[in-house]
Amino acid sequence: MIARRDNSRVADLEKQVSELTDEIAAAREAERQALHSSAQFAILVQSIKEYAIYMMDNAGHIISWNGGAERIKGYSRDEIIGRHFSRFYTEADRKSGLPTKALRQAVVEGKFEGEGWRVRKDGSQFWASVVIHPIYGSSRTLIGFAKVTRDITDRRHAQNMLEQKNKDLELFAARLQRERDDKLMNARAIVAVIAHEVRQPLTAITAGGYAAQRFLKMVPPEHDQTQNALERIVNAGHRTSEIIDGFRALFARGVQKQKLMDINETIRGVLKSLSSDLYAHHVELRAELTPNLPPVYGNRGQLQQVISNLIVNSIEAMETTPNRSRVLLVRSELRDNKAIAVGVKDSGPGIDKNRLDGIFTTFVSTKQHGMGLGLVISRMIIDYHGGKLTASSDGKEGASFQFLLPTAPVDKDGIRAGETIAT
Ligand SMILES: Nc1ncnc2c1ncn2[C@@H]1O[C@H](COP(=O)(O)OP(=O)(O)OP(=O)(O)O)[C@@H](O)[C@H]1O
Ligand SMILES: [Mg+2]
Repeated sequence: MIARRDNSRVADLEKQVSELTDEIAAAREAERQALHSSAQFAILVQSIKEYAIYMMDNAGHIISWNGGAERIKGYSRDEIIGRHFSRFYTEADRKSGLPTKALRQAVVEGKFEGEGWRVRKDGSQFWASVVIHPIYGSSRTLIGFAKVTRDITDRRHAQNMLEQKNKDLELFAARLQRERDDKLMNARAIVAVIAHEVRQPLTAITAGGYAAQRFLKMVPPEHDQTQNALERIVNAGHRTSEIIDGFRALFARGVQKQKLMDINETIRGVLKSLSSDLYAHHVELRAELTPNLPPVYGNRGQLQQVISNLIVNSIEAMETTPNRSRVLLVRSELRDNKAIAVGVKDSGPGIDKNRLDGIFTTFVSTKQHGMGLGLVISRMIIDYHGGKLTASSDGKEGASFQFLLPTAPVDKDGIRAGETIAT
C-alpha cells in the first residue's frame, strides 16, 4: 500500500521535473533566439553605412555607435562612446541650446525631426537630416534616445542649385520683360516726341489750306491772300521736313553733322513762322537780338524746335494774362566771349520755385492737352549741343527760360572750321 503511494509520488515528481525541464528548455530557446535576433539586429545596425545610428543615455551621452556614424561623423566607436552628442553641433547651435532642445522635443512630442549643419571630427560640416526617438524602460522611465542621422549635403546642394537656377530664370525673365517694356516705352516716347513737334507746322498747313480755299471762293478771288496762305503752307511743310531731319540726326548713331550757324537768323525764322500765333494771342513781341554774334555749331532744325517750344509755352502761359500786358521778350547776347545766351521771357503767371526742376521731367504738364514733352526735348537738344537750358521764375512776374550755346571755336588764324554759315 505504502509502496504504491510512493510510486505515484515519484511519478508526479518525475512529471513535474519533466515539465520544468521543458519550460527551462523553452526559456533557453527563447533567450537564445532573442540573443540571436538582437545580435542580428546589432549586426544589421552596425552594417548600415548610409545612416549614422546610435543610442544615447537620457542625458545625451553616446552609448552605441554604428558603422554609418563612424563613416559620416569620422569618430571611431572607442573615441566617441561616453561623449556628449552636442559635439556634432555647430558652435552657434550649441550656444543657442539646440541639442538640449532637440532631446526635450523628442520627449515631449515623441520624436524630434530636423535638418541642419552638423560638424564632423575633422571640423568640416555636412547638412544633416536628423530623427531622435526617446527610449523608455519598464515603468515608463526614460532610459535614453535613439538617433538616426543622414548626410543629405548633396541633396541640399542640388536643391540649392535648383533654387538658384529658378531664381536666375525669374531674374532673366524679369529682365527680358523690362527690356521689352523699355523698348516699348522708348518707341512710345519717340512717337510722342515726333507727334509733339510736327503738330504745330501741321496745324499751320491745315489752317493755310482752309484759308486758301476761302480766298479762292471769294468773288472776285483774293489772289494775293491765297498766295500768302500757300506760302505759309510751303514754309510749314519745309519746317516739318526740318523737324524730321532734326530727329533723324538726334537719334542717329555716331556723331551728327553740325554746321556753323547764325543763331539770330534761326530766332528770326522761328518768330516769322509763329507770327500769326503771336498776333492771334495778342502777344507783344520784343526782340533784342545782339547783332554780329559769333556763329555756333549746331543743327538748325533742332535749335528751331527749342526756340519754338519755349515761345509756344510762353504764348500758352500768357493766355490767362490780360490782353494788354502780354509781352514776350526774346534776347540773344554774347557771354564771356565764349557762349551765346538766348533768353525767352514772358509776362505770364510764372512758375512756382518748387516746381521749377520738375518741369523738365517727361510727361509733366499742367495743361489740359499738354504732353509734357516740349521742355524735355528742348533740354535734350541743348545738352546735345554742349549747352545748358535753365528756367527761372519768382512765381509771379512771368517765367524766364535761357539756353547757352558754346560759340564755334576759331583756330590761331581766327578761322572757324566749316566754310559756309547756314542760316
Ligand atoms: N513760360 C511758362 N510759364 C509758366 N509755366 C510754364 C512755362 N513753360 C513751361 N511751363 C510749365 O512747364 C510744364 C512743362 O512744359 P512742357 O513744354 O514740357 O510741356 P507742356 O507745354 O505742358 O506740353 P507739350 O509737351 O505739349 O509742350 C508746362 O505744363 C507748364 O506747367
Ligand atoms: Mg510745351
